[in-house]
Amino acid sequence: MREFELMNYLDRRIFRETAKERFTKLDHDYIYKKFNEEEFPIEGNNLLSSYIFKFLEDNYEYLKRKNEIILVDIGAAGGALTTIFALKALNSLKLLEKTKIILVDVAKQALYSTQVGNFNLTKEFIAVYNLGDFGSNGKDIKSILSKAKYYCSDLLKLPQDLKDVDICITGFTHHHLNLLDKELACKEMERITRENGFIGIVDESLNYKQYTKWLKQHKNETNFRNELVPIAQESFITLDEHISLFSSIVVINKMNSKKYYCFWGVKK
Ligand SMILES: C[S@@+](CC[C@H](N)C(=O)[O-])C[C@H]1O[C@@H](n2cnc3c(N)ncnc32)[C@H](O)[C@@H]1O
Repeated sequence: MREFELMNYLDRRIFRETAKERFTKLDHDYIYKKFNEEEFPIEGNNLLSSYIFKFLEDNYEYLKRKNEIILVDIGAAGGALTTIFALKALNSLKLLEKTKIILVDVAKQALYSTQVGNFNLTKEFIAVYNLGDFGSNGKDIKSILSKAKYYCSDLLKLPQDLKDVDICITGFTHHHLNLLDKELACKEMERITRENGFIGIVDESLNYKQYTKWLKQHKNETNFRNELVPIAQESFITLDEHISLFSSIVVINKMNSKKYYCFWGVKK
């Protein structure tokens, strides 16, 4: 139990290197595994998409006049699940065509597989989450992602040229950081987002019992190449603790469930 509490204070290199290894191995299977094995990350990203939709609706006239909408997904992983759900919100308001998509991750292989469309999107996933406008096999999603801009970068030091972002999102990523770095990551999101831009987070918050159960279930996890997928170091905080790490957002909506939470706000 004590070890569980200490996880928040481990060296950042342990978090970064173990995340890199895990998500390199999950380059092709990430979405497939989430859909088939633990649906809450997909539900959480779907909820975040509904928050993006609300932001787009509230700011529709302004966004329609803009030449370009910049969306940044930090911690995209193979297949950019968080962005896929954001595409749904943008597409339903016909704002997708003018959106520049930027994907950031520390795992180079996960980005590469996303760029070349080498990841598993099943017809069931597309049907259950109403993504059929992008083709029943997700062909258009892969085509859109192939044109995105990719940065292989640590999210604690995002590229300097990232700025004036309209929609800054991160899904299930900050729990791969220690407590001090979670705060730095939130500051980086605030730095790159324009005034009145959207900042949205969905993340995992497991208690000790849930976490040990998860570790047991994933002990011998393999990928589609039959390689062992290592566990990454994790650390969890609550919804309100996460919100308190931001210094310049006004929170508009928040939601807490047993395993995850989601919130969004506008940068002031
Ligand atoms: C659990 S996946 C999240 C994927 C997707 N956004 C979602 O919501 O399901 C976390 C991703 O964050 C990336 N990541 C972890 N630590 C990072 C860091 N310090 N800098 C950049 N990316 C990081 C991992 O490589 C991984 O691809």
